[in-house]
Amino acid sequence: MATPWIAPSILSADFARLGDEVDAVIAAGADLVHFDVMDNHYVPNLTVGPLVCEALHKHGVKVPIDVHLMVRPVDRIVPDFAAAGAGYITFHPEASEHIDRTIELIREHGCRPGLAFNPATPLDYLDYTLEKLDLVLVMSVNPGFGGQKFIPSALCKLEQVRKRIEASGREVRLEIDGGVKVENIQSIARAGADTFVAGSAIFGSPDYAATLRAMREQITRK
Ligand code: DX5
Ligand code: ZN
Repeated sequence: MATPWIAPSILSADFARLGDEVDAVIAAGADLVHFDVMDNHYVPNLTVGPLVCEALHKHGVKVPIDVHLMVRPVDRIVPDFAAAGAGYITFHPEASEHIDRTIELIREHGCRPGLAFNPATPLDYLDYTLEKLDLVLVMSVNPGFGGQKFIPSALCKLEQVRKRIEASGREVRLEIDGGVKVENIQSIARAGADTFVAGSAIFGSPDYAATLRAMREQITRK
């Protein structure tokens, strides 16, 4: 399995000091910066767009920016995020009219495509897409807000996706997003995740480096 990556979600950062917050989590050992984009349409909340992504990119974020699009429509905004320095661009199948076209669009613009599964979204969407994806995101909360409780059925879903990734023989990241904490990250790693988004657990802690270290210890102890 791939080296585990931890991706702090800036949704729980202090937005008045965003550049400093991102520098701090990278110094603390973050492997990716998870960038949640919400549109008050596909999800009931509104966050940040390509301008803020570009500002962080220009600020000099030294790890890939992991853009999680919770927006509908998807395609209109993909080139803007690619130009703004996104590394991965992940979207929800329900939010795209033509899933295959959106995946191609992300790839054509030089980014790595990911597909996100809400708690009640079946894995059937992987049938004709897995061979084109670089990342599968399993949501362990309903999208829209940070600080929610982990939904346990995500563990079984991770196991199923892990099997499908292994069977494909391709290198595809398996990311978990929502309610990830030091206390449950070991069972999440055991279920097959290799990429761990955590917002409130990291930005709500007094010492980012200590939290990232504790998470990594739990992951490697699995
Ligand atoms: C929820 C977002 C998550 C969120 C996770 O819609 O996609 O990335 O920031 O926050 P925590 O880790 O606090 O559940
Ligand atoms: Zn997210």
